[in-house]
Amino acid sequence: MSLTICNVHFTQQPERIVWLSSPLAKQLKLNGRKSVNVKLGRDTVPATVRTINRAGNHVYMSAGLRRSVRIPMSGNVHLSSADTDEIKLGPLIGILTDSATKSPTSPFGTRTGFVKQLLYMGRKKAYFFAFTPRDINWQQETVHGWFLDSGGTWFRRVVPLPDVVYNRLPSRRAETGTTISALRERFIRKQIPYFNWSFFNKSDVYKLLDNDPEALNHLPESVNNPTPERIREMLEKHHFLYYKPTAGSLGIGIYRLTYHPRRGYFVRYRRGSGNVLLRFTQFSSLMKMLRSRHGSGLSSYVVQQGIRLIEIDNCPIDFRFHMHKNGSNEWVVAGIGAKKAGRGSVTTHVKNGGSLMTPEQALNRTFGSKADEVLREAKRVAVKLSEAIERNHKHTLGELGLDIGIDRDGEVWMFEANAKPGRSIFKHPALKEQGKASLEYILDHCLYLSKFRKKEES
Ligand SMILES: Nc1ncnc2c1ncn2[C@@H]1O[C@H](COP(=O)(O)OP(=O)(O)O)[C@@H](O)[C@H]1O
Ligand SMILES: [Mg+2]
Repeated sequence: MSLTICNVHFTQQPERIVWLSSPLAKQLKLNGRKSVNVKLGRDTVPATVRTINRAGNHVYMSAGLRRSVRIPMSGNVHLSSADTDEIKLGPLIGILTDSATKSPTSPFGTRTGFVKQLLYMGRKKAYFFAFTPRDINWQQETVHGWFLDSGGTWFRRVVPLPDVVYNRLPSRRAETGTTISALRERFIRKQIPYFNWSFFNKSDVYKLLDNDPEALNHLPESVNNPTPERIREMLEKHHFLYYKPTAGSLGIGIYRLTYHPRRGYFVRYRRGSGNVLLRFTQFSSLMKMLRSRHGSGLSSYVVQQGIRLIEIDNCPIDFRFHMHKNGSNEWVVAGIGAKKAGRGSVTTHVKNGGSLMTPEQALNRTFGSKADEVLREAKRVAVKLSEAIERNHKHTLGELGLDIGIDRDGEVWMFEANAKPGRSIFKHPALKEQGKASLEYILDHCLYLSKFRKKEES
């Protein structure tokens, strides 16, 4: 296996010919060969091969060959060769996304900026493009992809099915529909690596880790679809619970329940743009209130031991750990945002009055000189948790957003794992660099999955 960067040029000949500069032909041991298979994505096209006398790594492709291989553009890209009878250009990597609102300059709505940034940063490493489910032609096995030129303008090209798909389909609802699962299955059947798999439900993640002692240490006790009796038992045991919809997000539908043996039951939740605090003397009245608000919807709730989080000015703080698999297939912490809850709010979401800060700012207040050590330990746990989730999940994961709490003893707890984490923490001025690093990890991991690797790494 050999892997090099080469510069691809286009010529006008109608035949299928590929010319290689002499150093490249020599390196690939193609000297004296008459033909070679040229590959891009899932396609292979036989071509006549010739050598030209030129220094450096250059590939010239005739118009005839370019049309059949569907090379999207000229310029620098990887060339890999496992055998003396083939050369593979690429990798060809597709970012799968979609949007309800779009325009010619923003074909992916609000996600356009993120997609553009990825394509821009990846342009010297691979053929990166974006596509929606509608851009795939399964009969022809092609994709009508969106590419970015060097001036940042979109252009479209039909290309073969890619080497890797990075899934950023936006909505949980779209992803649980049959068409999207069928699409995902089709990529997998063709052995095209596809990450991330989909959204997680909270109870799925808790169940996934149920037999993983290492991870269990960091999960608050959780019960899926608890009976009222079970909730009451948990309240008596912990005095403090979170009750949340398993498929929820953004803090919607979450209740914070507390029990004081003398004063009764308290419940806090968000209603409209305000926070509500109610008190009940009877447990049954509390349950009646919850049932009147959600009815049978409560069957998709999970109840969880509440964690006494560190606080600043009496407002709890938790953390988003943005995790990636890197170019060597290892989990790393790409960025950490600390989130301080709005006053009286049940969650730390910025939308509910929360504010974003750096982990150092958040931890120094509580732990002083120990802050570094606490952060180091939390990072170690986040990597372990990511490994555990991956170990117990049957599909490819490359990115995770962990909602992590740290209690006053410095213990680390995970509230949920998001398979398609949002990127809002990277808007903080102090986290811009981490945001960029996060994109580099995505690109490097795509390269890893594409198998465009040197022999010693494969
Ligand atoms: N068991 C818990 N103990 C303490 N705080 C919690 C607990 N569960 C959730 N929270 C708080 O509520 C927030 C939202 O909970 P999470 O499980 O992430 O739901 P969502 O999907 O709505 O984001 C967390 O970020 C955390 O601040
Ligand atoms: Mg969350």
